[in-house]
Amino acid sequence: MTGAIVIVPAAGSGTRFGGDLPKQFRELGGKPIVQHVIERFLLDERVARVIVPVAEQLLAVVNRGSSERVEFVAGGATRQQSVRRGLDAVPDGYEIVAVHDAVRPFFAVETFHKLLDLAAESGAAFPGLPVTDTIHVVEGDRITATPDRRQLFAAQTPQCFRLEVLRDVLARAEGNQDDATDEAGLAAKYGHVVRLLAGDPMNFKITQPEDLIVAERVFERLGS
Ligand code: C5P
Repeated sequence: MTGAIVIVPAAGSGTRFGGDLPKQFRELGGKPIVQHVIERFLLDERVARVIVPVAEQLLAVVNRGSSERVEFVAGGATRQQSVRRGLDAVPDGYEIVAVHDAVRPFFAVETFHKLLDLAAESGAAFPGLPVTDTIHVVEGDRITATPDRRQLFAAQTPQCFRLEVLRDVLARAEGNQDDATDEAGLAAKYGHVVRLLAGDPMNFKITQPEDLIVAERVFERLGS
């Protein structure tokens, strides 16, 4: 067993040039959010290497010497392209890869390990939370459909894959100019089995300023 590769796409701008820092570089408990994520994976003995796509102009300033197990690479214009760049940097000899949002610092390690095992067994696995709100499809200001809530799950990360599955999916998506917001959905779309594992409400994505306030409170209570 060679251990898993983790790709942490962190190349989102989330802001205009010269504005505030993108969310993944905002501080939580005195450290950038993405740094919490990277360090958490580095503590895990099942992780061989962490690859972090960042905006090209940041490559020169990120701390590249921090660990032999971390590599920063140039990200792309979309999340999927950033993941693709990360995948291109995976050395030979690895079998399992995880993709984790840079803005989800509170993932559960036990869940991650179960996802790695599920991916090894079936090809792909993701953590999903049953939605608690009713979700409507809306066009303009009118509801056009209301899918059965019992069939809806909010996708979290880390999403785990056998390496050849993620390579196949991203190559096919690129060929079709298909750009998706998550790799699990793409894998299913291109015919791979993607297993669901129960996600964790604490593993929320820091997207809005309010999320950062909640994250600060969680961090004070739990640590990262
Ligand atoms: O925009 P969204 O919340 O879906 O971003 C999820 C993750 O993808 C973030 O960690 C963000 O930095 C990353 N991303 C990226 N390259 C982009 C856009 C988003 O790595 N071009």
